[in-house]
Amino acid sequence: MTVKISVYIAVSLDGFIARKNGDLNWLPAGEEGGEDFGYPAFMSTIDHIVMGRNTFEKVLTFGAWPYYKKVSVLTSRELTLPAGLADKVEVLHLSPRELVKEMERRGVNHIYLDGGVTIQRFLSESLVDEMTITTIPVLLGDGLPLFGKLERDVKMLLLKSQSFKNGFVQNKYKIRENRSGTHRAFL
Ligand SMILES: NC(=O)c1ccc[n+]([C@@H]2O[C@H](COP(=O)([O-])OP(=O)(O)OC[C@H]3O[C@@H](n4cnc5c(N)ncnc54)[C@H](OP(=O)(O)O)[C@@H]3O)[C@@H](O)[C@H]2O)c1
Repeated sequence: MTVKISVYIAVSLDGFIARKNGDLNWLPAGEEGGEDFGYPAFMSTIDHIVMGRNTFEKVLTFGAWPYYKKVSVLTSRELTLPAGLADKVEVLHLSPRELVKEMERRGVNHIYLDGGVTIQRFLSESLVDEMTITTIPVLLGDGLPLFGKLERDVKMLLLKSQSFKNGFVQNKYKIRENRSGTHRAFL
């Protein structure tokens, strides 16, 4: 069974997912004006969350643990989990490909992949299937980027585009390459 890997992320108009120091104060905390931006619907489709260490460390500062699905944190370093998260979070030292293999061995169907550097690593190995990117109409000028350098183009197919009253624009893309590097046909 092939596990599906999806990204659901908010980005500034100039392409950043956080300020340089990780600050997210330019983002709405959750729902805004009764609009949930499809987040709960997306979450209901996934059965596992994979995030980079930096995103995990940021989430810890939120206070209450926000996820009701199991989370794997990728890091190359030691990471001690706070008490109370041992049954909710695990630390994995795996490459993107090893991670996919491990999740498929476990029978995971659909992963929510989070964190800029982490997404970039999976993208460059053609391991991302879909990306839902919500663009926030703000320029930050500097910050942590969603995208980075690539060895080759990653072609996307736009599946859905939606704008919201507050100016957010959400685009859902399918990545047109499969894991062995061959191109998927247009739908
Ligand atoms: N705007 C949004 O919707 C959104 C969403 C998510 C996150 N964020 C923000 O983005 C910031 C974090 O993003 P980020 O780009 O700095 O990084 P990130 O992807 O969260 O974390 C990157 C780190 O994870 C570890 N890692 C990732 N893949 C690995 C692998 N295969 N093997 C071993 N280690 C791996 C490495 O840390 P080690 O040095 O430990 O190896 C790497 O430096 C936070 O401020 C977060 O709040 C924003």
